[in-house]
Amino acid sequence: MRLVRSRRDLAQALTKLDGPQGIGLVPTMGFFHAGHVSLMERAVKDGASVLSVFVNPLQFGEGEDYERYPRDPDRDLRIAEEAGIDLVYMPPAADVFPPDFSTSVTVADLSALYCGHFRPGHFEGVTTVLARLFGLIKPQRAYFGQKDYQQSAIVRRMVTDLALAIDIEVLPTIREDSGLAMSSRNVYLTEAQRQAAPFFHQALSDTERDMLAGERDGAKLLAKLERRLKKIPGFKPQYWALADAKNLQPKATAVEGDVLLAAGHFGATRLIDNCVLGESAKSGPGAIKRP
Ligand code: PAJ
Repeated sequence: MRLVRSRRDLAQALTKLDGPQGIGLVPTMGFFHAGHVSLMERAVKDGASVLSVFVNPLQFGEGEDYERYPRDPDRDLRIAEEAGIDLVYMPPAADVFPPDFSTSVTVADLSALYCGHFRPGHFEGVTTVLARLFGLIKPQRAYFGQKDYQQSAIVRRMVTDLALAIDIEVLPTIREDSGLAMSSRNVYLTEAQRQAAPFFHQALSDTERDMLAGERDGAKLLAKLERRLKKIPGFKPQYWALADAKNLQPKATAVEGDVLLAAGHFGATRLIDNCVLGESAKSGPGAIKRP
């Protein structure tokens, strides 16, 4: 595995990497867990693999956790090596965004919904850094997790709209045995919050079960979801929604393939999760889990 920290070294290392399959990119902000590893393993399986590790200042709002976002570069490098990654780009902020950088990429509409409503500018920060990374690395494939459902829908839209020749692969959410979606931010949770956090996923899958049992009325499903979320000890739900899987528009009537999206806070820690209706039935009870 080769490690580079500058655009110049990156460009040079990429010339040695490109093969017939092209390059697969896994963009991350580091502090790896099994969710990140699943993306890396898939990229490695598909061909030459590049991993970016960069806590992107543009996607954090004022008062958010940019400074205290968990970081452990040495551990991340060991994990990447073990996963078989070919090249790691782990730059300082000024290498990605030089002082004269002045472009931003916005996917209108989709970026204003749900998480975007509560985190103004967040998705613009995400799409801007990804456009930059795609330009620097020129991957044929890029890998994302379904855990950040809205993010992957926005990235797909950006790639289509800008006619970027990149296949966007969205891989299943990796969960702890409790059902809690793995997240770098889970380390912020206190012991009591950790005990309660699995009920977040549970609330979504119980609502999915209601839908599969025949309840198709979106308002009724969301009222049930709201009750479940509000019952979770110490949890402050922020939004809960039933949305079309592709354009993310709110739905009044649920069909299989629609997605339940939700976010909320345990204290200062913000968690998000989602559930594609009918998906857990396909992958069996508990869906995808990994210790
Ligand atoms: P980060 O939170 O580090 O996540 C990197 C990738 O890992 C994202 O595609 C995310 O969806 C995926 N991921 C996170 N938790 C997961 C889980 N439990 N199961 C499966 N995949 C999971 O998302 C970002 O970084 C940034 O916004 C980024 C795309 C790198 C742009 O800065």
